Formats: sequence, C-alpha cells, structure tokens
Amino acid sequence: MSLGNTPERWGWVSQMLHWVIALLIVAIAIIGLTMVDLPNSPRKISVYALHKSLGLTVLALATVRLAWRLYAGAPRPVPGVPAWQHRTASVTHTALYLLMFAMPLTGWWFNSAAGYPLQWFEAFNLPPLVPEDKVQRALAGQLHEAGFWLLLLLVLAHAGAALVHHVVQRDDTLRRMLPRRRR
Ligand code: HEM
Ligand code: HEM
Repeated sequence: MSLGNTPERWGWVSQMLHWVIALLIVAIAIIGLTMVDLPNSPRKISVYALHKSLGLTVLALATVRLAWRLYAGAPRPVPGVPAWQHRTASVTHTALYLLMFAMPLTGWWFNSAAGYPLQWFEAFNLPPLVPEDKVQRALAGQLHEAGFWLLLLLVLAHAGAALVHHVVQRDDTLRRMLPRRRR
C-alpha cells in the first residue's frame, strides 16, 4: 500500500489515522459512559485519568490528521456515487473533524473549570485552559455531553452509509479505506 493517497484509494497514513482514531473514540465513549456511575474510589480516579489521557491522544492525532489531510488531499469521488451523496458525506466528514477537536477540548475545558489536575498517562502535566469557575464548568460539561450524542449520531450514520455502499451498492467506498487483500 502506498504511504500517501492516490486518486483511487486512501494511503497508509490516512487509513492508520482513520482507524486508530475510530477505535480510540469507541473506547473513550465506553469508558466515559460507564465511569460516571462508578463509586468513589482510587479506581474511579484512574479510570477518569485513562479517559482523559486517551482523549488527549485523540486531540494530538486529530491535529496530525488534519495537517495530513490538507497536505495529502483525498482520493477523487468514487465513480457512480450521486452528487448529493458526495455533498452529504463532505458535510458529515467536516462535522466529524470538528467533533474530533471539540470533544477533547470541551473535556479539557470542563476539567480546568472544575479545578481538576490533568496529566497525559502520568508522563507530563497539562495546564488548565481556564481558572476554576462553576458557570463554565456547567457549560463545558453540557457541551461535552451534547457533543458526544451528536458524535454518536453522526458516526452511526457515517458507518451505516459505508456499509450500505459496501453491501447494497457494492462500490469501492469502504474498500478504499481498508488495506488491500493480497491476491
Ligand atoms: C474524543 C474525546 C472524548 C470523548 C468521545 C469523550 C466522551 C465522554 C462521555 C461520553 C462522557 C460521559 C457523559 C458525560 O457525562 O459528559 C464523558 C465525560 C467526561 N469527560 Fe470526556 N470525552 C473525550 C475527551 C475528554 C478529555 C480530553 C477530557 C479531559 C481532559 C475529558 C473529561 C471528561 C470528564 C471530566 C467527564 C465527566 C463529566 C462529569 O463528571 O460530569 N473527556 N466524556
Ligand atoms: C466505526 C466505523 C466507521 C466506518 C465503517 C468508517 C468508514 C469510512 C470510510 C469508508 C471512509 C472513506 C469515505 C470515502 O472514501 O469517501 C471514511 C472517511 C472518514 N471517516 Fe470514517 N468510518 C468509521 C468511523 C469513523 C469515526 C469514529 C470517525 C471520527 C469521529 C470517522 C471520521 C471520518 C472522516 C472525517 C472521514 C473523511 C476523511 C477525510 O476526508 O479526510 N470515521 N470513513
């Protein structure tokens, strides 16, 4: 597989970033939804720390991904796919890019306004984005949660569309985001 994108396919860098970020987001979401109900304990604190460290990893990878996307471009549209579907996909992809940044940033904002410390895998500390503030804490918390439900909706539609292309239309939409099988 080539490193960069070709007119027909996503290259290795784009595919790696796409699937690693997708897996991380699924893991972070499962951790996020379950951690809030854990009883107070040292384990709860370490599960929260894992949620935050993985979320910050998404922020870093999303930055690399956006830079790579701007540098390497995208394959041309899959032949035979109607124009309205390209437009819908572009809007969805733009929203997914925005949420890849908005989720970690609202999390970081919430954490800062709540006055909690922030570390990346115990390797280094990150500074608060804002001083402790009850109003901002509530606002950031609501945006973090609402952003998540929007992300879930878009990812379900996005993955569903990829599967419909693969199984019903039988075009290359999903295949070109997957490593090629050896003959
Ligand atoms: C892709 C990144 C992220 C996703 C998908 C995500 C998702 C979630 C979800 C689903 C919840 C539970 C629902 C809620 O109460 O809001 C949650 C809670 C939380 N997240 Fe994240 N999160 C991400 C990144 C981060 C980051 C980077 C931080 C901190 C630096 C963070 C801090 C928190 C905190 C502190 C809570 C608990 C909120 C509370 O106690 O009410 N998140 N997150
Ligand atoms: C879990 C199931 C998923 C499947 C089956 C899937 C499938 C795909 C496929 C087939 C493409 C290529 C579309 C094309 O060539 O026109 C694509 C692109 C894309 N996907 Fe996913 N995806 C999934 C999850 C995610 C997640 C969790 C995110 C991020 C939140 C995401 C964000 C994107 C973005 C932004 C693009 C456009 C890439 C670009 O233009 O740079 N995907 N996805």
